[in-house]
Amino acid sequence: MESDQSQAIAELWKMIFGFIKPISLKCALDLGILDEISNHGQPMTLSQLHSALSLPHSKKSHLYRLMRILSHFGLIHEQTCPSEGSEIMYDLTPTSLLLTNKEGPLNLLPFILFQLDVLKDIMLKAYLCMGDWFKQEDKDKQTPFEMAHNCSFWAMTGQNSKLNEMFNNAMISSCSIFTDVIIKSGGNIFMGIESLVDVGGGPGTLAKSIAMHYPHVKCTVLDLPHVVQGFQNDDIVKFVSGDMFNFIPPADAVLLKWILHCWDDEDCIKILKLCKEAISSTETGGKVIIMEAVVGYTSANVSEEPLLLFDMVMLTSTTGVERDEQDWKSLFNRAGFSSYNIVHTVGFMSIIEVYP
Ligand SMILES: C[S@@+](CC[C@H](N)C(=O)[O-])C[C@H]1O[C@@H](n2cnc3c(N)ncnc32)[C@H](O)[C@@H]1O
Repeated sequence: MESDQSQAIAELWKMIFGFIKPISLKCALDLGILDEISNHGQPMTLSQLHSALSLPHSKKSHLYRLMRILSHFGLIHEQTCPSEGSEIMYDLTPTSLLLTNKEGPLNLLPFILFQLDVLKDIMLKAYLCMGDWFKQEDKDKQTPFEMAHNCSFWAMTGQNSKLNEMFNNAMISSCSIFTDVIIKSGGNIFMGIESLVDVGGGPGTLAKSIAMHYPHVKCTVLDLPHVVQGFQNDDIVKFVSGDMFNFIPPADAVLLKWILHCWDDEDCIKILKLCKEAISSTETGGKVIIMEAVVGYTSANVSEEPLLLFDMVMLTSTTGVERDEQDWKSLFNRAGFSSYNIVHTVGFMSIIEVYP
């Protein structure tokens, strides 16, 4: 009983102090700890790190404590030296490599910087409204975000060019995972398709990598005017400014990456019905390609907790939800599609091909 109670107290402490995780990650990035270890090219001692960061002498023992929690969170690997009395060495881990490999194929730093940046001034206010939002019937305030800020997340990105730019960069960096998946798919997804519209495709990063790897696919990006206005049409990708609730340009296939989880079922059905009108028949490759999470499916050994946390982000900032296979199936049926096929890829991402 006593150990149950100790465990219960520990769980409560973990819950209430859980905010220390993003805060210590922010501190590590502010100080440049990860870059310093990366530039050093090999594990660093506390003394080397302390001097490389040019921190006051009085902060050395505090740095040790920060490194200890970063290591506990899996952002740093602590190596104890075999010889007695020598200092602990700090190295990067697979997690921190995703934030230091800036020129590499997988760089999630802009996505993380965006999340940390909006947390303080924008999202925290919205998260703290969640309880009041649950109690109210007000249809005008569809999300805790709207309750906190009197506008939707999309309206705010439309009015705030810095936020819009940071959001687009976050989306570009999150695309890096998919570029790899698409290349590795060996083109099966795009077989028989001559044209594709990436709906809500932002700056066109994914569309560009599809067009470059599969030149037989003519790619168009549809997004809101404030998003596409800065991007030029070129030989690779054409940008169309518009509202996906009004019109989707015709193509063999429509791609929806991280779109439907931002919207409730009724809005998703409107989007999917317009997609169905836009695509060609199944015989000529007609399909909707959805890249999203499917709750219940994760790569082996990957905890589902991050997806459940992300679902709360969706609940707070959008009318959307992270869906399981039954939820997806019901959407496809209601929008008039005949069948679908799910391919699970990396992390929380699946590719769902939906046929008319
Ligand atoms: C979560 S982001 C996903 C962006 C991109 N597909 C990706 O995964 O990187 C959602 C995108 O939908 C766009 N969007 C929101 N409402 C839209 C609308 N009514 N019509 C077209 N695009 C819209 C946003 O501007 C944004 O680029």
